[in-house]
Amino acid sequence: MSSVLAADGIVKHFGAFTALDRVSFSLERGRTLGVVGESGSGKSTLGRIVMRLMAPDAGVVTLGDDDLFSMSERQLRMARRRIQLVPQDPRHALNPTMTVQQSLAFQLRAQGIPSREWAARCVELLARVSLTADYLHAYPHELSGGQAQRIAIARAIANNPEVIVADEAVSALDKSVQAQVLNTFAELQSDLGVALFFISHDLAVIEHISDDVLVLNRGEVVESGPTRAVLDDPKDPYTRVLLDARHSAEAI
Ligand SMILES: Nc1ncnc2c1ncn2[C@@H]1O[C@H](COP(=O)(O)OP(=O)(O)OP(=O)(O)O)[C@@H](O)[C@H]1O
Ligand SMILES: [Mg+2]
Repeated sequence: MSSVLAADGIVKHFGAFTALDRVSFSLERGRTLGVVGESGSGKSTLGRIVMRLMAPDAGVVTLGDDDLFSMSERQLRMARRRIQLVPQDPRHALNPTMTVQQSLAFQLRAQGIPSREWAARCVELLARVSLTADYLHAYPHELSGGQAQRIAIARAIANNPEVIVADEAVSALDKSVQAQVLNTFAELQSDLGVALFFISHDLAVIEHISDDVLVLNRGEVVESGPTRAVLDDPKDPYTRVLLDARHSAEAI
C-alpha cells in the first residue's frame, strides 16, 4: 500500500529544546494513525508540521507522492484542501458570525462548486455527521460542544480531504458524546476512505479509533505499530506507564 501521508526523520527545535527528534511514520489511505503521549511530548508540533503550519529543522513530509515542503504555490493550494484539521475547540475554528450553512458553503464555493448545489450539499454534509437540516441556520454559540465538533468535521469533509488531522478533537467532550463523535469519525472513514491522523493524550480514545499507534515521549517515537499488538504487549516502559495511568483512571 502506498501512504497518503508520511514523515521521515522529523526534527524540530525551539531554541535549545528539542521538541521532535527523528520522528517517522506512515499513514495509509483510509486508515487511522493514533498519536499518543503525555502533555508536551510533541504531538501538536508534529500535527502542525504535517499541515505545513510550521517547518521542521530536518526531515521530510510527503503527502501522496509530493514533498510537502517543496511544493509549488498551486500544489500547495491543493494540499491545503487535501489535508484538513479538526481542532480541539471547534468554536474557536468556526466563524461566530456565520451560520452553519454559510460556513459549509464557504468551503464549497472555494472549490468552485456552483451556488445552486450548495443547499443540498450542506444537508448531505450534515447527514454525514448525523445532524439534521435543522442545524443549517444555527450559529456556533447555539451549538453544544459535540454538535460544534460535528460541524467542524463536516467542514473538513466538505473539501474531500485525503487526510484529516484531529488534534485532541474529542478531549473536551463528555465521555458519552466522545464515543458518538468517535463513531462518526469511524463511519466517515469507512464511507469516504479518508485517513485520520488522530492526536490524543488519552490512550482509551486512541485504542478505540486507531489501526496503528505512534507513542511519543519527549519528542521521540518510543513505540509504533498495530494498536492491538502495541497495547497488548508494550515493549517500551513508557507505553506501560501510559497504560497503567489509563487503568487507574478507569478504576476511579
Ligand atoms: N512555538 C513554540 N515555541 C516554543 N516552544 C514550543 C512551541 N510550540 C511548542 N513548544 C514546546 O514544545 C513541546 C511540545 O509541545 P506540543 O504542543 O507539541 O505538545 P503536545 O504533546 O501537543 O502537548 P499537549 O498534550 O499539552 O497538547 C512543549 O514543551 C512546548 O512547550
Ligand atoms: Mg497538543
